[in-house]
Amino acid sequence: MSLNVIIMAAGKGTRMKSAKPKVLQPLAGKSLLAHVLTTAKKLGSQKNIIIYGFEGQQVKDAFAHEKIDWVEQAEQLGTGHAVMMTLPVLPTDGKSLILSGDVPLIGAETLAKLASSDSPFAMLTMNTPTPFGLGRIIRKDGKVIAIVEEKDATDAQKQITEINSGVYCVANEILHKYLKNLNNNNAQGEYYLTDIVKMAVDDGITIDTVSPQYQFEIEGVNDRIQLANLERTWQAHQAENLMKQGVHIMDPARFDLRGELTVGKDVQIDINVIFEGECEIGNNVKIGAGCVIKNTKIASGTVIAPYSIFENAIVGENNQIGPFARLRPNAVTADEVHIGNFVELKNTQMASGAKANHLAYLGDSTVGSRTNVGAGTITANYDGVNKFKTTIGADVRIGSNAVLVAPVTIGNKATIGAGSVITKDCAENKLVVARGKQVTIDGWIRPEKDKS
Ligand code: UD1
Ligand code: CA
Repeated sequence: MSLNVIIMAAGKGTRMKSAKPKVLQPLAGKSLLAHVLTTAKKLGSQKNIIIYGFEGQQVKDAFAHEKIDWVEQAEQLGTGHAVMMTLPVLPTDGKSLILSGDVPLIGAETLAKLASSDSPFAMLTMNTPTPFGLGRIIRKDGKVIAIVEEKDATDAQKQITEINSGVYCVANEILHKYLKNLNNNNAQGEYYLTDIVKMAVDDGITIDTVSPQYQFEIEGVNDRIQLANLERTWQAHQAENLMKQGVHIMDPARFDLRGELTVGKDVQIDINVIFEGECEIGNNVKIGAGCVIKNTKIASGTVIAPYSIFENAIVGENNQIGPFARLRPNAVTADEVHIGNFVELKNTQMASGAKANHLAYLGDSTVGSRTNVGAGTITANYDGVNKFKTTIGADVRIGSNAVLVAPVTIGNKATIGAGSVITKDCAENKLVVARGKQVTIDGWIRPEKDKS
C-alpha cells in the first residue's frame, strides 16, 4: 500500500522567542524539521507533504533542494485544521504517516512498525510518569476510544499516564472522511486532529497503538530548555552507541556528534571534541581535548593533540597533528606527516613523512616526501585577486621564516636559507638564500638622552 508522509510544521513556537520558526531551530547541527524529514525519507514514502505557516518562506527556503509537496496553513487553527489543508493533494487510497516538525528524534524503526499495522488507524502512544500537558489516551475494555487534551480533561482523566505522542499512521480514506466534520468546541477553540479518533471508533474502526523504542523519540520541543535537554539526551544516546562499537569516550557528557561518525577499533576521544557532518576515523586514532572535526577522514594510528580544527580534510596514517593545528578544506596528508602547533593548511597536499612543526601557513601547495618546512614559513599564495600554487619537492629543507611567493617551485633536496623571500624557482640540490645580508655599521653611535 502506498505511503505518504505529512509533517505539521506551521506553528510559530512562541516560547522559543526567536525570529526563526521553531522547526528551523537546530538540534545536533541540523534543524528539527530536517531530522523529521530525513527519517521520513527512509520509509520510502511516495509524497512528503509539509504543512507550513509561520515564517513559511524561511521554511521553504531551508528545504529548497528537497522534493516536497508544500501546503500552506495561513492561520494556525489547530492540528486537525493543519492536516485538513493537505486534503487537496492527498491521494484517496493508501496511508499517511502524520508527524510533527517539532518532535525531531522519531525513529525510522518505530515509524516502520506504525506503518505496518493492519489497522487503518495506528498511533504512537507511551506510558510516562510525566504526562502533564499532553493528550491522554482513553480506553474502554482495553480498546482506545478517544484522546482528551490536558486542557479538556477531567481530574480523573488527568490521572491517565498513557499519552498521545502526536504521531499517527492513518488510511487516507479516513482523513478524507472525518477531517471535514471537526469542530472547535473545546477549551482551546482549536480543530483537534485527535478528535477523529472518536469518530473512527464510532464507525467501528479498531485503533492500534504502538510504542516507541526510546522515550526521546516522542519528545517535543517547545522552548530552549527542552531543546537543550533533548540535545543532551540525543548526544548521550549517540555516545552510548559509539561506546558499544568499542570507542573509548573519556566523558560521554562532554561529547558532541552533529552528523555521522564511522569508527575503527580502539579509537580514543578525549573531552569536548565536536564532530560535524560526515567523519571517518580509523583504528587506534587518538583525539585530544577540544578538537572540532568536520567532514574529515583520519586514518589509522594518527594522534591528534588538543585544540586542533579540521574541515573537509583527509589525514593519513600515523600522523601527528597539533596541538592547535588547523586543517582547512582540501588539506590532505599522506602517512607519517607531522603538523605542529599553529600550522594552517589549506588546499595543500603533504606527501609521506613531510613535516611542518611550528607556526606555518601552507596554502594552495604541494609538499614532497620527507620535506621539512621550518617555523614561521608561509606561502604567499594570494595577490589580493588571484591565488597561485607553490610546489615544493621531496627532501627539501626550508629554513625558518621563509616566504614562498607563489607561483613558485622548489626542486627536490633544495635547501632554503632562513628568512628568505623566495620569488623565483629554486633548483634541485642547491642552497638558496634570498635576504638582506648582515652588515656591521662602523662609526655608528647610539643616541643618548641629554643628562644636563
Ligand atoms: C498535540 C496533540 C496531543 C499530543 C501532543 C504531542 C492535538 C490536538 N493534540 O498537542 O494530544 O499529546 O501533540 O506532542 O493534536 N501545528 C500546525 N498547525 C496548527 C497547530 C499545530 O502545524 O494549527 C503543528 C505544530 O507546529 C506542531 C504540531 O502541529 O509541530 C503539534 O502542535 P502543538 O500545538 O504543539 O500540539 P500540542 O498542543 O502539543
Ligand atoms: Ca507540542
